[in-house]
Amino acid sequence: MAVQKPDGTQDMLPNEALFWDHFKSTAWDIFSRYGYQPIETPLFEQTDLFVRGIGESTDVVSKEMFQTISGNNMAKLASYAIDHHDELAQLPTSEDRAQQMVSGALKNKSRLSMRPEGTAGTVRAIAQHGLITQGGAPVKLMYAGPMFRAERPQKGRQRQFNQVGVECLGAEDASIDAEGIIMLMRFYREIGIPVQSTRLLLNSIGCASCRPAYRKALKDYLLAHADFLCDDCVRRADINPLRAFDCKNPECQKVMEHAPRITDYLCDDCRAHYHAVTSYLDAQGITYSEDPTLVRGLDYYTRTVFEIQVDNGMGSQNAIGGGGRYDGLMKEIGGTACPGFGFALGYERCALALSAVGIEPKESPKSDLYVACVDAVEKPLAFNLVQALRDAGISADMDHQDRSLKSQFKQAGKMGVRLTVVIGPDEVAAGVVKLRDMSDHSERDLALDATMNYLGDHADAHDLSVEDLLA
Ligand code: HAM
Repeated sequence: MAVQKPDGTQDMLPNEALFWDHFKSTAWDIFSRYGYQPIETPLFEQTDLFVRGIGESTDVVSKEMFQTISGNNMAKLASYAIDHHDELAQLPTSEDRAQQMVSGALKNKSRLSMRPEGTAGTVRAIAQHGLITQGGAPVKLMYAGPMFRAERPQKGRQRQFNQVGVECLGAEDASIDAEGIIMLMRFYREIGIPVQSTRLLLNSIGCASCRPAYRKALKDYLLAHADFLCDDCVRRADINPLRAFDCKNPECQKVMEHAPRITDYLCDDCRAHYHAVTSYLDAQGITYSEDPTLVRGLDYYTRTVFEIQVDNGMGSQNAIGGGGRYDGLMKEIGGTACPGFGFALGYERCALALSAVGIEPKESPKSDLYVACVDAVEKPLAFNLVQALRDAGISADMDHQDRSLKSQFKQAGKMGVRLTVVIGPDEVAAGVVKLRDMSDHSERDLALDATMNYLGDHADAHDLSVEDLLA
């Protein structure tokens, strides 16, 4: 069997690739009206960025990162393993040994990982290029591209998937959170996901001053119920108790139903910020559900967190987008402290939600015109004509496989072209080409020289359409 694509990845065939383009252009169109500008960051970054930014104990960083090792560094790892064999053998698990080898053998700069999300890289780029200026307006950036997470593949969950995301750095005001959420909901509406089939969940997870007391209360609660929790949740009690809300184990979920809620621990500032966000949303008629158990799986969030879910057509992976505020992230990765807010939406899950309402990628457009030759001797003329047509703005093609005239007509029919041009010895002798309108099979002759001149006049403007040839 021919080599297959890796598990958890998807080929985007032409219709799908065009659908993805439509997605991106719709997003750009809307987001740019809110002042967002595009940015492209590398597909891989120093592993340390994600460890510091997203958080070492998150599933994304601790279990799902694709770490990349170049050939040269592989050799360094092998040498390290040989030189430190006894030391490594003392470590309890093979994960610990692998970790020690990577950190012992490779400098920070050489420890690289494929990006699992776009926020950390974008914030890194903003810091590195000094895009935030004292007293300047917030920096608003948008991106689209593949992200990589080594998760167990299932419907709506891939190892390489595509996100469109935005990040706004430099503004703490709740109006930024609200306009971001409104902008995302507008995108879903414009792309065709009915608002009534979406569920917008909203929460505040507090800040550096109020969250520690909540974490402590939650930790105490988890430890008090340790007998009813899975091992992961018991471990989470110490490292990251908020994660226990995301556990899929039904027993754990039952315990979490009665767990302390962050809403009871918010400080006055966080409470006021949350209230301001909801007031802006209310004023704009945005429907949302307040969900005090929504914590999200990335450690950088502070205050506002939100997620958009859809049920129809989705399976268990029903979040089509999410985001929130991250006022501590810039400082965490070594930049000057600066508040931030952003979100990302998953293209593949949105495509599932669209399919559930009957919106599928459209057939990719075919050529408008086919140039058929009676004999091979007319081929150079056909070749020049096809180039001139394309230069003038008309999509055109010809035979490249030495087919008979009959097969060329068949090919033109399959391609669904509007017009076919026929060039044969009689036409060449008369200095014309035959233009056939495929809708009614009517034919007319076009003077070849005049046609070439006409196309040549439009070569730089390339603004012609097939209709112009019929006129
Ligand atoms: P996230 O919730 O991890 O947030 O991902 C955003 C969206 O990406 C999800 O809602 C989902 O639609 C899609 N997604 C995530 N993982 C997968 C997967 N394995 N397969 C298919 N789709 C997936 C973030 O990534 C944050 N960076 C969002 C953000 C930006 N927060 C602030 N700024």
